[in-house]
Amino acid sequence: MLLIRNIHSLVQTYSSHCPVKKGSAMSHLPIINNAFLLIDKGIIIDFGEMKDCPNLNVKTHDVEHGFVFPSWCDSHTHLVFAGSREKEFVDRINGLTYEEIAQRGGGILNSAKKLQNTSEEELFEQSYQRLEEVIQYGTGAIEIKSGYGLTLESELKILRVIQRLKEHSDITIRATFLGAHAIPKEYKNNRKEYINLIIDQMLPEVVEKNLANYIDVFCEKVAFSVEETVQIIKAGAKLGLKAKIHTNQFNCMGGIQASVEHDAISVDHLEVLNDEEIKCLQNSDTMPCLLPSAPFFINDHYPPARKIIDNNLPVALATDFNPGSTPSGKMSFVISLACIKMKMTPEEAINAATINGAKAMELEKTHGSIEKGKKANFFITKPMSSLAYLPYSFGTNLIKEVFLEGKKL
Ligand code: NIG
Ligand code: FE
Repeated sequence: MLLIRNIHSLVQTYSSHCPVKKGSAMSHLPIINNAFLLIDKGIIIDFGEMKDCPNLNVKTHDVEHGFVFPSWCDSHTHLVFAGSREKEFVDRINGLTYEEIAQRGGGILNSAKKLQNTSEEELFEQSYQRLEEVIQYGTGAIEIKSGYGLTLESELKILRVIQRLKEHSDITIRATFLGAHAIPKEYKNNRKEYINLIIDQMLPEVVEKNLANYIDVFCEKVAFSVEETVQIIKAGAKLGLKAKIHTNQFNCMGGIQASVEHDAISVDHLEVLNDEEIKCLQNSDTMPCLLPSAPFFINDHYPPARKIIDNNLPVALATDFNPGSTPSGKMSFVISLACIKMKMTPEEAINAATINGAKAMELEKTHGSIEKGKKANFFITKPMSSLAYLPYSFGTNLIKEVFLEGKKL
């Protein structure tokens, strides 16, 4: 057992069933001041005010007036990739757009070539380092996609690396198969054949080897059409994989409607979003997931978070950690951007990064809040004057200690 004492503020506390937050409820973030937290076998078993703290003869840890947050739930990353793409970063400074670079065979195809030429061992090493880094940034549950393989062998290689990361770390990991991330050069004039390869060869192996929880498609003009997206979502569904879909990064083309119609768990990006799409989301359980560090990095405009929330919808926030549009897995920066650039309040942003992120990975029963019976994944901050100090002090590392399954890392 472990007793955490003298917590200045214990954030996102629920006596039972923290709800997924939408609309005005996104401002609701319960906090207990001057609190304790009791953990046993990796699970939260009690919490409350210090005046009610049980007098136990167990290991104790004094927080010295820091805040305690449930770990971030980062529901969208591409953390398994090879190398980096800073040349494209410089190309954009010199005037090319992200889409132009992709059309010239840079972008995702550039990362795929690098990954295909990287050994599984080396890919694991690079990815493990990134995972360790994001854990230190406070992330306690993470979704990781394939999608930089684009051949049967390389897609499986990524998913095996994700599997190995699970075995080597206490962080909770959900895996997503994203064979439909880009059309490889060899299939440029024969898209159908690549889609058949995904559906007839990659998917069955991925499912047979139990390597993925979800299926994803990059539904966009530079990637896959709505019809192709639907075809792949349906093939995944047939084999038991629910969808999480990249859509509306650059164009409104029906990706949201198609995703909602096929019960996608989440639709991710939404830098562009029209009223019809908002209406469509209102009649669904699909989580809008926003990734503001992508438009920050490629200098695009931000998703209309305010409009989404004011239309009584939920929002999840995630990093999109990847080598092309977001070479960063820092959730606290995403939260600052959400506040500064999308006018979300600190409470809304923290809900989006905890319980709603958990929901976008179907982990809301075990993660995303301080609740009896949930996993003891949380972090302790340096002393802070208030909750808003966290997004306010962007770039500063306020996280002092990280715990996963009750163990200090
Ligand atoms: O979510 N948009 C598609 N995929 C990634 C970036 C891919 C890349 O540029 O490598 C994203 O932004
Ligand atoms: Fe992405």
